[in-house]
Amino acid sequence: MRDRERNIENNNAFGIQEEIQTVILSDKDSDIQKAGEIIRNGGLVAFPTETVYGLGADALNLMAVSKIYRAKGRPSDNPMIVHIADKETLKELALEITPAMEKLIEAFWPGPMTLIVKRQPHIPDVTTGGLDTVGIRFPSNPVAQALIKAAGCPVAAPSANLSGKPSPTTAAHVENDMMGRVDAIIESGDCKHGIESTVIDMTGVIPMILRPGVITSGMMSEVLGKKVKLDPALNARVGEDFQPRSPGMKYKHYAPQAEMRIYSGLPEKVEAAIKAAEDELIADGQVVKVIKFKDEITAAHDLFAKLRDADDEDVDVILAAALPEEGLGFSVMNRMLKSAGYNVIEV
Ligand code: TXA
Ligand code: MG
Repeated sequence: MRDRERNIENNNAFGIQEEIQTVILSDKDSDIQKAGEIIRNGGLVAFPTETVYGLGADALNLMAVSKIYRAKGRPSDNPMIVHIADKETLKELALEITPAMEKLIEAFWPGPMTLIVKRQPHIPDVTTGGLDTVGIRFPSNPVAQALIKAAGCPVAAPSANLSGKPSPTTAAHVENDMMGRVDAIIESGDCKHGIESTVIDMTGVIPMILRPGVITSGMMSEVLGKKVKLDPALNARVGEDFQPRSPGMKYKHYAPQAEMRIYSGLPEKVEAAIKAAEDELIADGQVVKVIKFKDEITAAHDLFAKLRDADDEDVDVILAAALPEEGLGFSVMNRMLKSAGYNVIEV
């Protein structure tokens, strides 16, 4: 009931008068065919990928893509990733395919890697946020691949969450955010990785990672035989003059309702600091959730689900232990830092 009320509230906020009837589909082939038809006819379908659930529409249909922005409550200058189900389709979307792109594709597609490339002019501006580039991804999830094939078109898909919420890693997360806002939701299992794809800009002389993911800069550098760059914004926190940023600032993208603190330092000290804070907050009558992960793979898989759980449990404060910021740990910390509004406590 709460969700329905919230959806109606959101719909009104974004100027949608009527609730859409959302069909729940399974990941069986007959249902995937139905979902493909919905996309072909200009509708919206939420579907699983190996990273997070996506909210798909025909990438070449202006009206269909516009509906995605409305459903998510997302600013319309934020570009979409276009999903394909075979390497050949890239030629119809990209202006050129460079040797560096070919190497990365050979190594990591299908998989959790999005290439930003110069785009062909026939892709609508609404899909690319008006940019002269487009993000392309060939997902490895078999349901995603079957859906794209059934649709018979490239599928524009951001993560299937309401704007500002963590990306959905289960069908239940999608249903919480998107019931009444999309035409269909394909229910499938948990997403294998749990964080969004690595986004790498291939338009410059040296490829640059814009969003870190499961495919790390080290993995890419190795395949390319030269170092890739990291968008300097990704290391914004590391400067000497770092100041914790207050909640609600533009960097806070994956925001739980609770205040979130990240404890960083030697493991024993972090453990002690979290325990002390937990005791103090509980004594103060606050609902506290402690987030610790046994390794980076589990952290990637579980982080967004835990943030959503915290909201459902009406948690006041989340206390999280920092991960070592290398490899996959760097990618997960990128999300954790944003969730926490860069609220880091060094111990
Ligand atoms: O794993 C994923 O990438 C998931 C699944 C569904 O495939 N999709 C996803 O989409 O995370 P979204 O829209 O939530 O995030 C796409 C990111 C955004 O930060 C967007 O700004 C960036 O990619 N992006 C897309 N096209 C771009 C472009 N042409 N230039 C620069 N950044 C771009
Ligand atoms: Mg997203």
